[in-house]
Amino acid sequence: MNAAGVSISDRHMNDRNDAEKGVAMKYLNEILGTRYPFIQGGMANIATGEFAAAVSEAGALGIIGSGGMNAERLEENIAKAKSLTDKPFGVNLMLMNPDTDAMADVVARSGVKVVTTGAGSPEKYIERWKSAGIFVIPVCASVLLAKRLVRTGADMIIAEGTESGGHVGEMTTMTLVPQMVDGVDVPVIAAGGIADGRQLAAAYALGAIGVQMGTCLLVSEECPIHPNYKAELLKAKDNGTCVTGRIGGSPTRILKNRMAREYIRLEKAGAEKIELEKYTLGSLRKAVFDGNVEEGSLMAGQDCGQLKEIRPLKDIFASMAMEAAGVVRRQQDVIRVLGQG
Ligand SMILES: Cc1cc2nc3c(=O)[nH]c(=O)nc-3n(C[C@H](O)[C@H](O)[C@H](O)COP(=O)(O)O)c2cc1C
Repeated sequence: MNAAGVSISDRHMNDRNDAEKGVAMKYLNEILGTRYPFIQGGMANIATGEFAAAVSEAGALGIIGSGGMNAERLEENIAKAKSLTDKPFGVNLMLMNPDTDAMADVVARSGVKVVTTGAGSPEKYIERWKSAGIFVIPVCASVLLAKRLVRTGADMIIAEGTESGGHVGEMTTMTLVPQMVDGVDVPVIAAGGIADGRQLAAAYALGAIGVQMGTCLLVSEECPIHPNYKAELLKAKDNGTCVTGRIGGSPTRILKNRMAREYIRLEKAGAEKIELEKYTLGSLRKAVFDGNVEEGSLMAGQDCGQLKEIRPLKDIFASMAMEAAGVVRRQQDVIRVLGQG
């Protein structure tokens, strides 16, 4: 039983045999009380309290990306979000942030609904958060790490494939999600390369109870990134991203630009980590705030090639839901061609 009063793991919602046993799967929006089963990915330097509140108002779960903040700024952003929405929202903590202990404390006192975590194990904070009624949902790129985090009390797992923008693992969403569903006994949320209703329907087919999205929300009207960054996303093609830091151990998916090409060249030439770090220092901020699309790090997922226009969040969410419902309806044909109907 989650401290918020919702039993999750007991219901064994991800069991592949649930349908056969007649056990209804509980979807993410039913658990979180949102309109849609969507979580907005925490995005450092982008997902402010204002943006998270706009996402929640549009029907998904907004998440404050605290990666570039300290405890004081996080507190301000939570207060801002509360002033703008009565709907649930959450906080993303990057556990490498030097202020994490203080930020974990802010989260515990804040009354937010969800905390998502990246870059490490939130083990030492979990009990405190759960007793405050907060859902703890780590982002994982491998089943092994997820199993460990579930043992320490994680309520759900976000299985994030390498298609996604920002820091990435090796496995694809297509291969990771079903193995995660089989590997942990808590609900799984799919992330990485989900930007329309076809991909949402596919996430359900893989056994997820909902999805987390980042890239496709960068081109929402409400997203506070520089217009130059949005323009680059709209221009990007299917192969418009690359991964920097594969050799150095901090793989990050970004749009191809001068900075990315130079980084990869230096990396291949055997540059020291410190030299590479100097090169990227503050580079996401350069893209987000200054609109410097050649020297900045324009984090984006492989779904960037699907982005065609800047739209309000509520349109993005509504069209995804409508398209996914259409896809699922048409799947009836698949039953027939498989000779099972
Ligand atoms: C610009 C950008 C910044 C991101 N920053 C973070 C972050 O600070 N913390 C985190 O856990 N995930 C971060 N992510 C990953 C997202 O939360 C999300 O899991 C991912 O975007 C999903 O894949 P998609 O980009 O294909 O939608 C970031 C993604 C993007 C695109």
